Amino acid sequence: MSNPIVSIQGLSYQYALTEVPALRDVSLDIAEGEYVAVMGPCGAGKTTLCLSLNGIVPHMMAGGVEGKVIIAGQDTAQTTVRELARTVGMVFDNPEFQLSQVTAREEIALGLENTGVPRDEMIRRIDEVLGLVGLRGFADRSPLAMSGGQQQRLAIAAALAMYPRVLVLDEPTSNLDPIGKEEVFSVCAQLNRERGMTIVIVEHEVEVMATYASRVVVLSEGRVALNGAPRDVLRQVQALEAVGARAPQVTELAYRLEQRGRPVAEYPVTLEQALAVFPAEGVR
Ligand SMILES: Nc1ncnc2c1ncn2[C@@H]1O[C@H](COP(=O)(O)OP(=O)(O)OP(=O)(O)O)[C@@H](O)[C@H]1O
Ligand SMILES: [Mg+2]
Repeated sequence: MSNPIVSIQGLSYQYALTEVPALRDVSLDIAEGEYVAVMGPCGAGKTTLCLSLNGIVPHMMAGGVEGKVIIAGQDTAQTTVRELARTVGMVFDNPEFQLSQVTAREEIALGLENTGVPRDEMIRRIDEVLGLVGLRGFADRSPLAMSGGQQQRLAIAAALAMYPRVLVLDEPTSNLDPIGKEEVFSVCAQLNRERGMTIVIVEHEVEVMATYASRVVVLSEGRVALNGAPRDVLRQVQALEAVGARAPQVTELAYRLEQRGRPVAEYPVTLEQALAVFPAEGVR
């Protein structure tokens, strides 16, 4: 890949005082504008991978590191977390823990103040990013009075205010109700589609990722087990099961039909593909 925005090169990482590495020889290039879904079971290293993209690993964690992470040409080992925050925005799973201010405006201003953005520019950006996440008119609201989906979109707005080129989201919808989940997914899809923003998202909703992601990376025990287009990765029902991940329901259905002697020409991974593969009378 020429000039990837993220280049992970043989990265291994082991937290201090632990027995096994969290990441083992991970190599992964991500091009600008990709939408990468990271999946894998509990403890597979997904969060550690996210933290290695903004330098929290290794700078703010005790542990041993091998290999390299290059973000937009900068080696994270030689770049501060603050500097990397200009390129990589982070959103975590629990919106409440990320929000500390009295109003949405202050929440977004916080990161901008820390990087010395002038006041006029700050006001402009706050307006802009609230609009981007569908929270125009919410500037004076208390984050505490917002729904989970709104809080998470505010956390995304705060990250966007730094104009990052990569947005990393670690299970951003795991604490949200179905409406909140949909709000977050559609904001991410829109940022990716309309602004070409590179998205790296840890997400278990495999049906949703089959539709939005341009690439799926499955981690298992700190290694990259599968990596490719959703259509190529998510059709590997057995390989996914073997590492404790799940294929989309429609793919699972095709697999089960085939097991019962009903060959399926091409495994679908999205509902739309399934409708094309299984004609109305096909599944009964
Ligand atoms: N702060 C830490 N200190 C020590 N060990 C850690 C720390 N964070 C994670 N680990 C260990 O590193 C390994 C990978 O953990 P990580 O949190 O990256 O996995 P994950 O895929 O995000 O899991 P989950 O699905 O539970 O979020 C695990 O063995 C975990 O116990
Ligand atoms: Mg995690």
